[in-house]
Amino acid sequence: MKQRLFVVISFVFLGILCIHLIVGRKKVITVDNVQGPIAFPASRKDRDHLSTQNETMKTAHSKTTKEHTTTHVQTTTIQPNPICIAKQKNIVFLKVHKCGSSTVANILQRYTYNNHLNPLLPDKDTTEQSYWVLNRLKEQYMSQIIPIPEGESYNTMFVHSVHDHDIFKRLFPNNSYYVAILRDPVERFISYTFYYQLVAQMKEDFPQSKHNPYIFSKALLKKPFPYGVLGPSYDLGFRPWGKVNETVVDRFIDNIDKDYDFVMIMEYFDESLVYLRHKLCWDIKDILYIKKNVNYEKKGYALSQKDRQLIKAIQPVDVPLYDYFYKQFWNILKSQHVSFFEEVYNFKQILSGVADYCNFGRKLKPEGLFAKTQWHDAFNVTSEDCNQMKWTEGHAIAMLAKKARDKYKNSKI
Ligand SMILES: *[C@@H]1O[C@H](CO)[C@@H](O)[C@H](O)[C@H]1NC(C)=O
Ligand SMILES: *[C@@H]1O[C@H](CO)[C@@H](O)[C@H](O)[C@H]1NC(C)=O
Ligand SMILES: *[C@@H]1O[C@H](CO)[C@@H](O)[C@H](O)[C@H]1NC(C)=O
Ligand SMILES: *[C@@H]1O[C@H](CO)[C@@H](O)[C@H](O)[C@H]1NC(C)=O
Repeated sequence: MKQRLFVVISFVFLGILCIHLIVGRKKVITVDNVQGPIAFPASRKDRDHLSTQNETMKTAHSKTTKEHTTTHVQTTTIQPNPICIAKQKNIVFLKVHKCGSSTVANILQRYTYNNHLNPLLPDKDTTEQSYWVLNRLKEQYMSQIIPIPEGESYNTMFVHSVHDHDIFKRLFPNNSYYVAILRDPVERFISYTFYYQLVAQMKEDFPQSKHNPYIFSKALLKKPFPYGVLGPSYDLGFRPWGKVNETVVDRFIDNIDKDYDFVMIMEYFDESLVYLRHKLCWDIKDILYIKKNVNYEKKGYALSQKDRQLIKAIQPVDVPLYDYFYKQFWNILKSQHVSFFEEVYNFKQILSGVADYCNFGRKLKPEGLFAKTQWHDAFNVTSEDCNQMKWTEGHAIAMLAKKARDKYKNSKI
């Protein structure tokens, strides 16, 4: 009798355990099912409406400019892993100088090359100086760029150019995703002045600064600042035809906001890339990178608080531009599910692995395998992937230009 009771109790217990397992399993399956790339290419209009997963939360979206502050609280549901429809292949990246844009450009060069897309490239001979730079497009822009076969359209842009709403709209398909990148104006100023050797010039002009870590202090006191700084607003097409006032600056920022789907922030480079991947519906492997074009010459300088103020003061358009998109970026982050931040952490670990493998591991292992996680399937990083991540801009553009020219020539036969 006791034994039978024991058997019955055991069965009941096992049954309850099974139900728990099945219910628990279901949860796991739901998470597994949605691993992989997230979200579909969405325009800015959809940005706040992307959601299906059942996790409701209130997010305050605020759009702040100097003139007006509007805050509306809206209810958004946030999904950890939105469903992906198709990879976006039309991407216009405005390569803003000295903002980490070479790294993003490399990602787009590889994507363009590996997926046989049509890049917008300058039609220059590789013997020309700066043959990888597409200057501001003229009204007769066809003479500046490498043509593509009839009936096809340009897919990607990743070379230096100047934003031009009308021309870009004519060149790229309507569903193209527009991305730019900005950087803290003080940090960018430092990078810019070192890169363009303005620091050496300053030291010559102000010899007392030579052995002083505050190398900018004296030069910054000169009005107007004698070395000039071309900020992101220049790349983004801002041309003041008169005195710069708030109205003009606000209108400019508004237009960039309308024209660009997403503005990356260099200080949050990996967060920006992961968000971009979601928007483009890309795989983690598509956004891998090895840091490049990092200037190691910067050393031994300091900034006083006054220097920082003066550096900001000589960038009256770029400072509000950065502030605006910095806030916008944080509104995006605020509306992310916690799994977004876990993905960023996972991404950073993958990047360390990629750097170790590509820089030191080639001889140790034939392939670099990254195990499956909830965000991606298992994938290999091969020595060819490493090579591509290490392309210099000149090499990449020369190769892509040759490929584009051959494709066009063959289409004419
Ligand atoms: C989310 O859950 C709430 C209550 O838990 C339910 O009323 C609602 O219909 C669910 N929404 C979706 C999209 O499943
Ligand atoms: C893109 O949009 C413009 C204006 O809305 C329209 O005239 C044009 O036909 C569209 N092009 C394509 C390829 O859909
Ligand atoms: C701002 O500058 C623009 C162009 O120079 C000018 O048309 C406008 O009147 C100015 N606005 C104010 C408030 O000064
Ligand atoms: C990675 O490469 C190895 C060796 O070539 C291969 O056996 C394996 O199937 C690859 N894995 C993936 C996920 O591609």
